[in-house]
Amino acid sequence: MAMGAAAITDDAVEIAPGVHWVGALDPHLRSFDIILKTANGTSYNAYVVRGENGVAVIDTVKENFSDDFFRRLESVASYDEITTIVLNHLEPDHSGALPELLRRAPRARVYLSTRAQMMLKALLKPSGEKPPAYIPVTTGDSVDLGGRTLSFLHTPYLHWPDTQCTYIEEDGILFTGDIFGCHFCDTRLFNDRVGDFRFSFEYYYAHIMRPFRAYVLDAVALIEPLALNLIAPAHGPILRHLPREYLHRYRELATPRLFNEARSEKTLLVFYLSAYGNTRRMAEAIAAGAERIAGVRVSLYDLEGGDSDIFTDLVEEADGLAFGSPTINADAVKPIWDLLSSLTSVNVKGKLGAAFGSYGWSGEAVRLIEDRLRGLKLRVPVDGLRIKLVPDTGELEQCCHLGESLARHLTGQSEHRELDMAILA
Ligand code: FEO
Repeated sequence: MAMGAAAITDDAVEIAPGVHWVGALDPHLRSFDIILKTANGTSYNAYVVRGENGVAVIDTVKENFSDDFFRRLESVASYDEITTIVLNHLEPDHSGALPELLRRAPRARVYLSTRAQMMLKALLKPSGEKPPAYIPVTTGDSVDLGGRTLSFLHTPYLHWPDTQCTYIEEDGILFTGDIFGCHFCDTRLFNDRVGDFRFSFEYYYAHIMRPFRAYVLDAVALIEPLALNLIAPAHGPILRHLPREYLHRYRELATPRLFNEARSEKTLLVFYLSAYGNTRRMAEAIAAGAERIAGVRVSLYDLEGGDSDIFTDLVEEADGLAFGSPTINADAVKPIWDLLSSLTSVNVKGKLGAAFGSYGWSGEAVRLIEDRLRGLKLRVPVDGLRIKLVPDTGELEQCCHLGESLARHLTGQSEHRELDMAILA
């Protein structure tokens, strides 16, 4: 792990006068939520804010790190001082110690986003706890701790519907939940003291925030006007040195990055893999057919020539995606599944999707790909095309028609179905 020279103490760590980190370190974690690699572990950051009239706890930690959390919390506050619990995000890595905290601090009122209410009830169900008195909040709402005001920012879908940020107006400190976080464990805690965590920051964004980039831009717009002295995320280094740079980086990452020479054109990407050249011929004919329609720019990619990762930016900004695969062992081939699997890291909802392929015996690949596209919430308005072995001239013309049809759907020129009045009778 990228641990600092000095071991962290068991006590809380002051991040500003009267504001403490009371989180936990998990240096040996190597895989988070199964899907994310964590080369040096992670941290679960929770915070305590002291006001003249009470103490607020912002988020908790993963359940099996509760002892660390409570020990640090007790080093700076007693439970009867806790008047406020803020839940910026209810995923179990931040709410694991919540049921016990509610038992220990019964005076506290819980503040959370409107969308977190149902999640809170579901979360407390196994513990048999009655949901506490909670107050749903949104942008513009605030809590006065006495000399310190916590105000809330509605920043949903980063990366769950419930997510919000909490801001101390008097100190310019923003608690952001997973936003601006990363899986990087370092006892030195602060971004100007820890090791180089740029890779972790970008990796976390790419795998957690990227599918929600429109919401990222909304959140950035909400945060930008704030005076920012420190950003306190729920994972990874606390950003006290040049915090606004991380905000700028989020804006850059969430802004479309590909230069498109013809912004008025729709883009169709045709991906394929071909064992004997037959699916390739289909792909070329589909591309040629789509090119017949003005206003569509078509790109053809043989997946034998590149890993799926290099296509992520293209896929994110494309309007339509067509996938061609032969059927081998009653399935589409692995590079196609790898590419389809990578689509979960970008928002493809509503894009046009299509499938095609040559087959020798049973030809399941096309239907399986279409099912996957629908599962990813792409539109699949045109039936996929399966051709047995070698496409002949007529079948290649069918491919051209498929390409034309996809292009017409992309440009809004698809033929309208005549309404059969008989079906209304
Ligand atoms: Fe770190 Fe979405 O929980």
